[in-house]
Amino acid sequence: MAPQSLSPQLYQSFLSDLAKERKPSPIRGLYPLEAKPGLISLLAGKPNASTFPLTSVTLTSHSPTDPEKRTLITTEISGKELAEGLQYGPTAGLPSLVGWVYGLQEKVHGRKKGEGWGVTIGGGSQDVIYKAVSSLVNRGEPVLVESPVYAGVLPMFQALHCDLIEVETDANGISSSSLRNTLQNWPSSKPKPKVLYTVPYGCNPTGMTATTERRREVLGLAREYNLIILEDDPYYYLYYGDAPRPPSYFALELEQPEVGRVLRFDSLSKILSSGLRIGFASGPEELLRAIDMHTAISSLQTSSLTQAIAFALLNQWGYDDFITHTQTVSAFYRQKRDVFEAAMQKYLKGLAEWESPEAGMFFWFKLLLDDNDSEALVRTKAYENGVLALPGTVFLPDGRKTPYVRARSACSTGIKQMKLAGGWARR
Ligand SMILES: Cc1ncc(COP(=O)(O)O)c(C=O)c1O
Repeated sequence: MAPQSLSPQLYQSFLSDLAKERKPSPIRGLYPLEAKPGLISLLAGKPNASTFPLTSVTLTSHSPTDPEKRTLITTEISGKELAEGLQYGPTAGLPSLVGWVYGLQEKVHGRKKGEGWGVTIGGGSQDVIYKAVSSLVNRGEPVLVESPVYAGVLPMFQALHCDLIEVETDANGISSSSLRNTLQNWPSSKPKPKVLYTVPYGCNPTGMTATTERRREVLGLAREYNLIILEDDPYYYLYYGDAPRPPSYFALELEQPEVGRVLRFDSLSKILSSGLRIGFASGPEELLRAIDMHTAISSLQTSSLTQAIAFALLNQWGYDDFITHTQTVSAFYRQKRDVFEAAMQKYLKGLAEWESPEAGMFFWFKLLLDDNDSEALVRTKAYENGVLALPGTVFLPDGRKTPYVRARSACSTGIKQMKLAGGWARR
């Protein structure tokens, strides 16, 4: 039986004033009418494709099935696929890539097409996250963010003068007790928060992966306190923990009496190429429509050609080879984690404390400093020694002092870096 969805009307109370005021693009709003069989469309300003010089695009890539041998395979984009890639296309994304994402979300998260959710493609997940925030949050509103939080979303909320409410996290992810405490004690005079932002796998910056238990509790609280969860998950496929992977929020909400509280963001950046700039949002159609209305007046759409390239490759692989490829990538980062951690043990033992990440590419470590402030060390001594890392303060909404540092363990010179870092930590 299909899961029960939240009522479409409910989302009206979540949409920002800006999202409600946006009018459909007078041209793009009529695009669906072009689908009528036999219709001659004189609608959009589509340039005549016969004037485009490209006749085919050939991609050469490593086969996902034998990463050791690094066998090369070629993929050609021509004919109808190339024509779509060279022309303006639908705001939400090329139907071929959108269709591939539907299939992926069903295979990976158990969410079936037509059961209360949709897909929209963006120029990286950052693009869709930004549009989601602008579609959901009004100036000055409170927003729940895990803390520390991905520094890339802070400017979005800060520009809106949001009241950033920090929800504590630990090695098991978001602290549901901190969230419950905040929500239970919410002052009745203050507008209630509508959204909770979290990075549940290999979190940027802490590297933590939320446990299934925590995710369940957070979902329960979202239902109880009427929240939308912004599940920003670019490191989902970079899970390398020994235990079976926890389900995503998007999958887990199938256990709830109704679906529609999770707006999920995926990215191809960490698994195919960050330069491709392809990310996608999956979730309630009312929220995706608001994102699309933003796209329709900003960039019109994500590049058709990069979508066509991504689709050609993914389609040639099929889902199984895609998963095989992501397993190769996550094994690579696991090995980086191990090498980096060995260096941490060697050079920073007694000078820093950390938890071992089980996904992603970040180490979040606490320097055992007298003044509990990593910033001066990171910005001066470390940099002078050729080490560039991020002081923890940039991941805190109020920019307060912290002894934490974020380092990317993916870096191949990690050991040398840590040797130098050992030098500067031992002041
Ligand atoms: C947590 C998080 N969200 C979003 C992004 C943006 O990713 P994309 O390249 O898909 O825009 C990043 C990039 O590092 C990230 O770490």
